[in-house]
Amino acid sequence: MKFPAEPFKIKVVERIRTTTRETRERLLKEAGYNIFNIPAEAIYVDLLTDSGTAAMSDNQWAGLMIGDESYAGSRNFYHLEDTVRDLTGYQFVIPTHQGRVAENLLFSTICQPGHIIPNNTHFDTTRANVKANNAHAMDLPIAEALRPEIEHPFKGNMNVAALENLLRTDRDKVPMVTCTVTNNSAGGQPVSMENIRAISEVCKRWSVPFFFDCARYAENAYFIRQREPGYKEKSVKEIAREMFSYADGCWMSAKKDALVNIGGFLAMNDEDLATRLKQKLILIEGFPTYGGLAGRDLEAVARGLLEGLDEDYLHYRTAQVKYLGDSLDRGGVPLVKPIGGHAVFIDGRRFAPHIPQERFPAQALVVAMYREAGIRGVEIGSLMFAEEDPETGEIRYPGLELVRLAIPRRVYTTMHVHYVAESILKIYREREKMRGLRIVYEAPVLRHFTCRMEEI
Ligand code: F0G
Repeated sequence: MKFPAEPFKIKVVERIRTTTRETRERLLKEAGYNIFNIPAEAIYVDLLTDSGTAAMSDNQWAGLMIGDESYAGSRNFYHLEDTVRDLTGYQFVIPTHQGRVAENLLFSTICQPGHIIPNNTHFDTTRANVKANNAHAMDLPIAEALRPEIEHPFKGNMNVAALENLLRTDRDKVPMVTCTVTNNSAGGQPVSMENIRAISEVCKRWSVPFFFDCARYAENAYFIRQREPGYKEKSVKEIAREMFSYADGCWMSAKKDALVNIGGFLAMNDEDLATRLKQKLILIEGFPTYGGLAGRDLEAVARGLLEGLDEDYLHYRTAQVKYLGDSLDRGGVPLVKPIGGHAVFIDGRRFAPHIPQERFPAQALVVAMYREAGIRGVEIGSLMFAEEDPETGEIRYPGLELVRLAIPRRVYTTMHVHYVAESILKIYREREKMRGLRIVYEAPVLRHFTCRMEEI
């Protein structure tokens, strides 16, 4: 079978609407061709992100009803604490309302100006939080990660030799080594156990703490089971435990692999660090047994963490993403290979070679997907990352112009995914009709969220 049937049946449904082409054309114009400005109700299949967009199970919804909303010592906190301790082996568990708050707490505590935080590839909010503390967010991916067409089973790996070199020259500037699983910014690619072990050994040798950004740790563990010799017979939970055993702590945006709409946490064994983080937590999120969440949300995270490790679910989940990727690949659509855990990434420059990089070929595809089929994806290319060189005034373009199709968990059926594939294949066949874009308004930072454009 190309794709396993969904390992769930549907108990509650949410209506989604198709719109006419005229409506979509009008909305695009009103939105300044910026997909963030389109109301979600006018979108048929929304692949903007897999974050906070999961469908919770009946078990999680039932958990909401036993939310204990006590200010301190909520029973749901203890349930979450036990679950995270059991999974990670880390003793101190600190809830936050999402991943970037965990990053804010952590980096504002450990970073001094001039520090360096290495990572396989920092996610945008991680990078921004490191930078906000006047430290340098250094990406150390393996060379293959920068070449979209190359197949590699663990393209999310870190370049461990480069890490060792960094520590040899600049150990004093590195308060922590971090690793993102799966590596979102490099295409949702997994990191192998062998690589994790090697990072860990280097960190031990140089006495540097090692933390995971583990938003998609379960998808990573599932890929290890499928692709790495020696792990076929292990359960995903055993693999996840082994991953965590090589590090000293982690932070998680629970909005991904914990299958909730809001939530996150930090976990670690260093009591002194945990104490300092909790002091800050009280200032910005709340008492350490709720950390910006309602008791019911803590319960949903605790239950979701276990559901996210279910092997039938992970088999279906990764196969659904692959089904979309393979369908596009068969039709010749240029993609980042291999297909990652949570999203398919289309190479916009090879998709529309007639549109030059300064005319935003990947964004042109985002516009075409909405115009043609009411589908929302997101540009990860020049609109997001091109920046002016402060000295020469020249525009520096990123290496890749991608469109990310991130698949929400347990939300869309195979037929939706099939619809997405068919629609994109049609656009690909008629790709010379696609038009480039020009920016008519932009904000000084993070322009992609609010800029307005027109078609050329
Ligand atoms: N780390 C990774 C690897 C992420 O992918 C994200 C969010 C965060 C941290 C921040 O977590 O959103 O809960 O504050 N990624 C989303 C995405 C936004 O669309 O990939 P958050």
